[in-house]
Amino acid sequence: MAVGAATARYTAWDPRGWSLTKRVSAAVGAVVIIVAVIVGAVLGVRANRYPSYTKLDYRLVETYSGSSFFNKFYYATSDPAGGFVQYIDRAASEWLNLTYATDTSAVLKVDTTYNGPEQVADGRQSVRITSNNTYADGLFVFDILHTPYACGIWPALWLTDPSNWPAHGEIDVMEAVNMGEWGNQATLHTSSGCNMGVKRKETGTALYKTCYWDANDESGCGVRGAKATYGPEFNSQGGGVYAMELRDAGIRVWHWVRADIPSDIISGSPDPSTWGKAYADFPSTECNIGNHFKNQSIIANIDFCGGWASATEYYTTQSGCPDSCETFVMDNASNFTTAYWEFKSFKVYQAST
Ligand SMILES: *[C@@H]1O[C@H](CO)[C@@H](O)[C@H](O)[C@H]1NC(C)=O
Ligand SMILES: *[C@@H]1O[C@H](CO)[C@@H](O)[C@H](O)[C@H]1NC(C)=O
Ligand SMILES: *[C@@H]1O[C@H](CO)[C@@H](O)[C@H](O)[C@H]1NC(C)=O
Ligand SMILES: *[C@@H]1O[C@H](CO)[C@@H](O)[C@H](O)[C@H]1NC(C)=O
Ligand SMILES: *[C@@H]1O[C@H](CO)[C@@H](O)[C@H](O)[C@H]1NC(C)=O
Repeated sequence: MAVGAATARYTAWDPRGWSLTKRVSAAVGAVVIIVAVIVGAVLGVRANRYPSYTKLDYRLVETYSGSSFFNKFYYATSDPAGGFVQYIDRAASEWLNLTYATDTSAVLKVDTTYNGPEQVADGRQSVRITSNNTYADGLFVFDILHTPYACGIWPALWLTDPSNWPAHGEIDVMEAVNMGEWGNQATLHTSSGCNMGVKRKETGTALYKTCYWDANDESGCGVRGAKATYGPEFNSQGGGVYAMELRDAGIRVWHWVRADIPSDIISGSPDPSTWGKAYADFPSTECNIGNHFKNQSIIANIDFCGGWASATEYYTTQSGCPDSCETFVMDNASNFTTAYWEFKSFKVYQAST
């Protein structure tokens, strides 16, 4: 009896005992929960999207080193960046010793002789070299002995297609201003539709997330390294290696001071899959890398002043540099003896297909 009475009653959780209203709201509630779970899962998967940087087998395709280092570059004599500089051609650079190469290194420096408004009327003399060869992809290993630093300078080691900018993209591997105390900055500049507000695996500090060249005062999407990644601290350790990998999955940059260069780089069989987290990671998640980066040449230069180096917060506040940028650059030749790049080699590897 007691059993029969009990079975006639439903527990509160049994829908057979519910009113129609309760059944409908329970069904709606269930649908809402299911939709929420699906949307949450989709958003979670989207936020976690990350390209597959599978191991590639890299082969050496180009070496820039030794006394013929500068032979595979051309010297540009105009400055699209609008700095206070006079870029000189190859003959003048060799005559004035602004570029010279030996068996062990290649030096690119600025004029440290001339002073005043007559001799330095259109800016201080310097050099901008661009590789004749262009690359669609590859692993670029830059071995650097000395990075330039001095008040008023804006040096860079980078890649672009100068005749198709910004359509073919720009990859700044090393860039700094003045005394370099901000550390290195690696930055992309592209046409529209390339963004980095996505999952990244990097040790550096991400700045702007949009790479579109015209956004944020033409800042691009940069990643800043620690102070020792550039300038006197980097140089005092014998310099080191910066490696940049450009492939459809993304663009990544690593760096090491000389004592820490991986043995696979030293032995000439570089394998980024063994290097761990990059310093700068620009994955292809919201940027079609193959479409935004094409036909890249390697460029090294030292500009003066211009938008970044002479910006107040960098020039005066951070670096404590005197006068206006252009006045200092015009009058103080002897302050530019530290403004030189010294390269041991550049090596370009591409994946065997
Ligand atoms: C690179 O280009 C420059 C300028 O066009 C040319 O003078 C030089 O011979 C080229 N170098 C090589 C190795 O082809
Ligand atoms: C150029 O530099 C080399 C190597 O440092 C030096 O031997 C030579 O005297 C320099 N020439 C000039 C014109 O400064
Ligand atoms: C690649 O770059 C070179 C050098 O800047 C340029 O002359 C050439 O037109 C470019 N090629 C293409 C297909 O864009
Ligand atoms: C730069 O040169 C000018 C003119 O010779 C001089 O007055 C000034 O003191 C110099 N500045 C520094 C920081 O050496
Ligand atoms: C410029 O050089 C002078 C003379 O060596 C030095 O006293 C001064 O500190 C330098 N100034 C800067 C800003 O580098």
